[in-house]
Amino acid sequence: MGSFQITVNGQPRVDDDVPVHLNLLDWLRGLGLTGAKEGCAEGECGACAVLVARPDGRGGSRWTSVNACLTPALALDGQELVTSEGLGSAPGPCTTEDLHPVQREMAERGGSQCGFCTPGFVCSMAAEYYRPERAPLPAAEKEAEMGENGFDLHALSGNLCRCTGYRPIKDAAYALGIPEPEDPLLERQALAAPPARRTEVRTTASTFLRPATVEELAERYAEHPDATLLAGATDVGVEVNIRHTRPRLLLAIDHLEELRSLRFAEDHVELGAAMTLSELERSLAGRIPLLAQLFPQFASRLVRNSATLGGNLGTGSPIGDSAPVLLALDASLVLFSASGERTVPLSEYFTGYRRTVRREGEFLRAVRIPLPLAETTAFYKVAKRRFDDISSVSTAFALQLEEGRISSVRIGLGGVAATPLRARAAEEALLDRPWTEETAREASVAMTSESTPMDDHRASARYRSAMLEQSMMRFFAQHRPSEHVGASR
Ligand SMILES: Cc1cc2nc3c(=O)[nH]c(=O)nc-3n(C[C@H](O)[C@H](O)[C@H](O)COP(=O)(O)OP(=O)(O)OC[C@H]3O[C@@H](n4cnc5c(N)ncnc54)[C@H](O)[C@@H]3O)c2cc1C
Ligand code: FES
Ligand code: FES
Repeated sequence: MGSFQITVNGQPRVDDDVPVHLNLLDWLRGLGLTGAKEGCAEGECGACAVLVARPDGRGGSRWTSVNACLTPALALDGQELVTSEGLGSAPGPCTTEDLHPVQREMAERGGSQCGFCTPGFVCSMAAEYYRPERAPLPAAEKEAEMGENGFDLHALSGNLCRCTGYRPIKDAAYALGIPEPEDPLLERQALAAPPARRTEVRTTASTFLRPATVEELAERYAEHPDATLLAGATDVGVEVNIRHTRPRLLLAIDHLEELRSLRFAEDHVELGAAMTLSELERSLAGRIPLLAQLFPQFASRLVRNSATLGGNLGTGSPIGDSAPVLLALDASLVLFSASGERTVPLSEYFTGYRRTVRREGEFLRAVRIPLPLAETTAFYKVAKRRFDDISSVSTAFALQLEEGRISSVRIGLGGVAATPLRARAAEEALLDRPWTEETAREASVAMTSESTPMDDHRASARYRSAMLEQSMMRFFAQHRPSEHVGASR
């Protein structure tokens, strides 16, 4: 057991008895804050969503929705959060006047029936309600899945409702106004998020450690190479909840500055391995178009608010979505350990099924992408659902044309072999050739020949091969020479 401090709904709390593997949801429910629910315990339903004050990158904070079922309570040591109970203003029985605007709209527009999912929806909705960039859109500029109030419906992509149906929930979201200037949660966003602090909690069976510096992390990881690094916990949390793993040492790396910066240099951009995907999406603001295509297709907003590139590559999974994209971008990984730093091309990182060149005690500090970027890029993810699903196959293309000929090309593949891989044969079939349908067709055949897809519950090997071929032709169809600047006319 160990102790931690946290502010919940404005009230500071200290707890000396938090087990290392107790998740935030169970800890909150143990306090009697039973609004957040456990629907799935694996990040799929959003019934457990709560709001955490995270840095906004400009000295203030941003209410960020996260899945409380995945994150260990201790990972929130020193932090500040709000649950659905903290959104309304009345402590006891209340009228609709006492409700928070998102609660009121949900109640008045019939957005809740059994109510199981409602606290989670309300928290995700509140995060979007307070999103600093949200502003009403003139009707003419209204985008699909965005209300005239600037509410992005994808904010709710990680929340499931089994009985109400989504139309009334969408009505509630689109009816929201802009927060009043004196709204306490809005005012709170003007202040900095709580700083990270070193946390060490030991029990006889396991230890939770948030090192204060990257050097301390490297030292401890060198001493305990079997430790589990904890970034966003969107993979680790599932392992703990569903597979009942109980790592003996959790090393929390999500607050370390060295792993959390985004730097543009003349010839490359460096993405901190522990920046969340939502942070990267906001900070990059479309400057790496291939990543901009990846983000909305990666899990849900709730998951992206915690998930990191380091975690996605750290698992060595053959179906992680970032690897194909980063392979097409020719990325390298900056690996850090007690003996120093080295850079490894991502194309040499994976060595076998969930195996990588990472040495004992080594972790990802950053992902480096060379500049300039190729001009023609695309990411295609084939999954059973359009959003919030794991890929069966994914392909990423980055192609440069000069006077109608392909002067450089990189293709990243996921889900078609024991590791993510570069489609070298297809690249060869394209390089220095005119960008024509015939060339694309030859490359698509080469691409299927170099993969070794397997049958599993997501897709058959034949289907995966067919999807590879189809994605090459889709890429060609969407980027025909006549539609491409710089291509031959
Ligand atoms: C509902 C749901 C949907 C998902 N959808 C997708 C999806 O669409 N596409 C997809 O690719 N994935 C998906 N995932 C998987 C997961 O979200 C990603 O793999 C995510 O990027 C993991 O990042 P994390 O920070 O949460 O990792 P964590 O869970 O914190 O860590 C994962 C692993 O990586 C290691 N690790 C973490 N950081 C580092 C580092 N800096 N260096 C070395 N090792 C490290 C950890 O030790 C651990 O073994 C989904 C998960 C859930 C729960
Ligand atoms: S309980 Fe389903 S996402 Fe947490
Ligand atoms: S109101 Fe019943 S699950 Fe959503």
